Amino acid sequence: MNYAPTSSIPEAATHFAQLQNDEWGHLYPAATVDRSQFDLLNNRYDEWDITTLRLAWFACNEEGEPLGVAMLVGDGEVEPRDERDLEGPWFAGLVVDPAFRRQGVGAALLDFVTEQARLLGFQRLRLVTEHKTKFYEQRGWTIERIVTLNSVPNTVMFITLKS
Ligand SMILES: CC(C)(COP(=O)(O)OP(=O)(O)OC[C@H]1O[C@@H](n2cnc3c(N)ncnc32)[C@H](O)[C@@H]1OP(=O)(O)O)[C@@H](O)C(=O)NCCC(=O)NCCS
Repeated sequence: MNYAPTSSIPEAATHFAQLQNDEWGHLYPAATVDRSQFDLLNNRYDEWDITTLRLAWFACNEEGEPLGVAMLVGDGEVEPRDERDLEGPWFAGLVVDPAFRRQGVGAALLDFVTEQARLLGFQRLRLVTEHKTKFYEQRGWTIERIVTLNSVPNTVMFITLKS
């Protein structure tokens, strides 16, 4: 598997932004395909301000074709009342193209992006998931609490990153 910043393959941004929006649009009423696409085209992080963190990578096959995407984001994953005591960074936006699922792409992206967070100096990473708690538990993540996103129950999980 190869990994590439999403901004380096701009022609894939619309497809993966659409997949992301199909998965999570019902949880984030303000979300749009354009907004997801903007984040995939504009990877950024000002180290003095975690709220600027929007980094994303594609996992690609040998031909350089993107198979899936995952992100590191600073905020915006939970609602404001929960954000006060659930600080980022967050692992977010993991979606594998349906044609390439159950081949290890999702797990590989999870490992890769977790390692990027560690290399950036973060000591803990969070995520929020509606249905995939077991997928993450099997890969070392711990349940932290239940929150609601647009009134839908979701699970916040965390992992401690070794320095
Ligand atoms: C969740 C998601 C990212 C997983 O991506 P994936 O590439 O299929 O993930 P993997 O292949 O690494 O693992 C998926 C399962 O396939 C299994 N698997 C991996 N390689 C396999 C293979 N060669 N043969 C059979 N099964 C395999 C894994 O063990 C895993 O099983 P588990 O669900 O019991 O843990 C993908 O289903 C997806 O995009 N879903 C929609 C968006 C979503 O739910 N994102 C996460 C929300 S927080």
